[in-house]
Amino acid sequence: MSLGSVACVDPATSDSDTMSATLRVVTILLLCSLPELATAWGDLGHETIAWIAQSYVSSTTASAIKDILGLTQSDYMANVSTWADTYRYTSGGRWSAPLHFIDANDSPPSSCSVEYSRDCGSTGCSISAIVNYTSILLDDESSDTTRYDAMKFLIHFIGDLHQPLHDEALDVGGNDINVTYDGDHTNLHHIWDTEIVEQLADGASAESFAKNLTASIKAGSNGWDVNSWLDGTTLNDTLSTAITWAKEANGYVCSDVLSAGIDAVEKGDLSGSYYKAHFDVARVQIARAGYRLGAWLNLIFTGKTAG
Ligand SMILES: *[C@@H]1O[C@H](CO)[C@@H](O)[C@H](O)[C@H]1NC(C)=O
Ligand SMILES: *[C@@H]1O[C@H](CO)[C@@H](O)[C@H](O)[C@H]1NC(C)=O
Ligand SMILES: *[C@@H]1O[C@H](CO)[C@@H](O)[C@H](O)[C@H]1NC(C)=O
Ligand SMILES: *[C@@H]1O[C@H](CO)[C@@H](O)[C@H](O)[C@H]1NC(C)=O
Ligand SMILES: *[C@@H]1O[C@H](CO)[C@@H](O)[C@H](O)[C@H]1NC(C)=O
Ligand SMILES: [Zn+2]
Repeated sequence: MSLGSVACVDPATSDSDTMSATLRVVTILLLCSLPELATAWGDLGHETIAWIAQSYVSSTTASAIKDILGLTQSDYMANVSTWADTYRYTSGGRWSAPLHFIDANDSPPSSCSVEYSRDCGSTGCSISAIVNYTSILLDDESSDTTRYDAMKFLIHFIGDLHQPLHDEALDVGGNDINVTYDGDHTNLHHIWDTEIVEQLADGASAESFAKNLTASIKAGSNGWDVNSWLDGTTLNDTLSTAITWAKEANGYVCSDVLSAGIDAVEKGDLSGSYYKAHFDVARVQIARAGYRLGAWLNLIFTGKTAG
């Protein structure tokens, strides 16, 4: 999901002349062998969203998903939730890169907005992708391979849509805003995909982090008004549903992610007071994404949101 971040960074670009050529090669190989570096709502975010969705799908829906994916294992949705982030970096999958985000051309923090005609772009975006892959799954005539890809894309893109910086054009969705987090030099997009989520999960697996969030959804903890999370959610208008979700996520760019402006996040270490002030946004957005993904799949396969 990271818009412009690369899978592995050549350390020579940051620490120029000090490293020997051999050490550089070894370091690059080591960095490139760590899969986490490539991804967004990193793997943890996507897998957590998938696990939450799994606890909201009906048995009919679960069977349909397993059948399409050809999987019987307990983590059937989490298993495919990060595939799209690998696929986009392959030569055959490069066309799908724009589908991970919508570049809202607004002006945070003073003004946030998403306008489909202004922001989606001719090569598509997360919103057109959710509309397209939903209609493919609803169409009895779709081929098995088309449905297989549609399922994997939908599970991933509904997650991506809930990460505020996947609904923002400014500085390539924050990829070009350098920040420090827990002593590491990274960028604003990346910390919202990964570091903030990892700090929140505090070492828990995706499955147990999802159990915690699902329990909070059921209890209505954290001030969550869960009854409103499916307002406007309808297969009669998949476009307006996805736009509603995108606008909500984009609003957090103004209210939280960049509320004090770009200069403010370029200073200091964001794992301290910035994390404390804004982690609840990452938490509610992961919970909402999982809850909505489950309800959306129920709608597709049973016509009802509840399992
Ligand atoms: C998905 O499950 C298959 C086995 O069915 C396994 O080989 C593969 O490593 C899993 N992938 C992920 C990303 O969990
Ligand atoms: C819908 O998805 C299919 C399969 O990925 C793709 O071939 C097609 O171009 C997409 N259509 C639109 C309108 O995005
Ligand atoms: C951000 O960091 C990158 C790589 O470390 C560097 O090339 C770039 O100049 C930095 N950008 C700004 C605006 O400081
Ligand atoms: C979720 O985890 C947090 C942090 O560890 C904890 O305070 C909270 O009580 C847990 N919530 C539930 C519903 O288990
Ligand atoms: C969707 O359309 C159907 C048929 O027109 C209608 O019965 C139903 O109430 C609509 N549902 C929503 C949520 O708008
Ligand atoms: Zn993505």
